[in-house]
Amino acid sequence: MQQKYHLQCVACGHVTSDFGEWFTQNQQCPDCGSKHSEVWYTSDYEELSQIIHQRVESFWQYFPFLPLSDPSNIITCIEGGIPIERWGFLEEFAKEQYNLNIEVHVCRNDLNGGTGTFKDVSASLAASLFKEYGIEQYCVASTGNTATSYATYLSMAGVNCSVFLPDNALKASEAFISAYGQQVFRVKGDYTKTKVIASGYSKTNHILMSNGNIDPIRVEAKKTMVFEWLRQLGRIPDVYIQAVSGGTGPIAIDKGVREIQSVYPGLRNPRFLFIQPDKCDPMVQAWEKAERENFPAGFENEYPTIDNPDTEIPTLATGHPTSYPILAKLAKAVGGSFVRINESGIADNARLVAFERQVMLGPASAVCMAGFFESLKKGLIHDGETVLLNIGEGVRRSPEFVDKMIYTTKMVDSVDECQPHTMSSYREQLWKAVLVN
Ligand SMILES: Cc1ncc(COP(=O)(O)O)c(C=O)c1O
Ligand SMILES: [Zn+2]
Repeated sequence: MQQKYHLQCVACGHVTSDFGEWFTQNQQCPDCGSKHSEVWYTSDYEELSQIIHQRVESFWQYFPFLPLSDPSNIITCIEGGIPIERWGFLEEFAKEQYNLNIEVHVCRNDLNGGTGTFKDVSASLAASLFKEYGIEQYCVASTGNTATSYATYLSMAGVNCSVFLPDNALKASEAFISAYGQQVFRVKGDYTKTKVIASGYSKTNHILMSNGNIDPIRVEAKKTMVFEWLRQLGRIPDVYIQAVSGGTGPIAIDKGVREIQSVYPGLRNPRFLFIQPDKCDPMVQAWEKAERENFPAGFENEYPTIDNPDTEIPTLATGHPTSYPILAKLAKAVGGSFVRINESGIADNARLVAFERQVMLGPASAVCMAGFFESLKKGLIHDGETVLLNIGEGVRRSPEFVDKMIYTTKMVDSVDECQPHTMSSYREQLWKAVLVN
């Protein structure tokens, strides 16, 4: 029988037959040492056209295009088939304020079944693959969401997972991981140091470790986002907005688009707008410098690093942006950009969304939202375009952030002090707060 898939080294073309072999060779190319391999399938892509006309509840319905051989190994909490919603209040704002007729769609990753983040698809595929190949130990360094998600799914698969968190990671992330009986190592230092220690642990103990943003497991899971766009929107959006730390999302989008270009000719990447908070914005700094210098050859290899970034959004606290070269090239190729937002205003964005849509955003998602407003202000969104915001996490990731959503409380001591209110009276105040940021 013909094999369903193989991995191919992006650097030298070496072919690895399957994930069993990939794990045995410590997730790298035996010829050139590169950790960046991509998965290619022998499956019939006609089947994809059929699936995208069906109702999809989980990304596992794209099974022919995922690198698992036996469906009985699937570990799932129903993730990936999340709704893409049209948010009219943002369209009205763009029309009133900038005279732009745009469509605004939002990927509701907060509705994923595992942990309510866009990491759940990757963790589900990872856990399933580890079950398929009998992997018993794994380790991961993460700013929080990947760790929480992997801990959840790997626990379901009975895989021991050591999790390395930087010292500023959210307590809630630590609590979930610990509760499932997985080992937490909280590193005294930032995410960069955390990765170094995790990598040392992986080598010393011969334990597989997540390969970061180019990890083929993560990329293959997240590429199904493209399939979902075709299914739910019938197209690739013109503009894609995401808060980035490392940027697995765009790397996966690019892979997904290339994978199906032969069956969907003319398909191309959206214009990427990558958002970072001003307290940890190394990629934005690098991009602005490149712009000033008119993008000299090799511009993508030049970026600053920030030690111990002083941000209150630990999820996005990647001070050494090692994946910038890949992201910068992706952005340049489509006329995209990197955009900085004011971190102190993100709670205002989250309050506005909660008021207008009854959706509670997590901090990294609020950064994405702020990025939409900033992109409009900077003229990066054009008339007639379809814009997609990737809301990567819901609020349950951060109880601290939930507290910031409180603004209508009055302390009272008697009936006289309590009067009925009209909700709409808050609207003006909420919009004003967002627009001054
Ligand atoms: C909600 C959310 N948005 C954005 C990001 C950044 O993702 P990436 O590291 O793939 O850039 C993360 C990463 O944890 C996240 O959880
Ligand atoms: Zn190679």
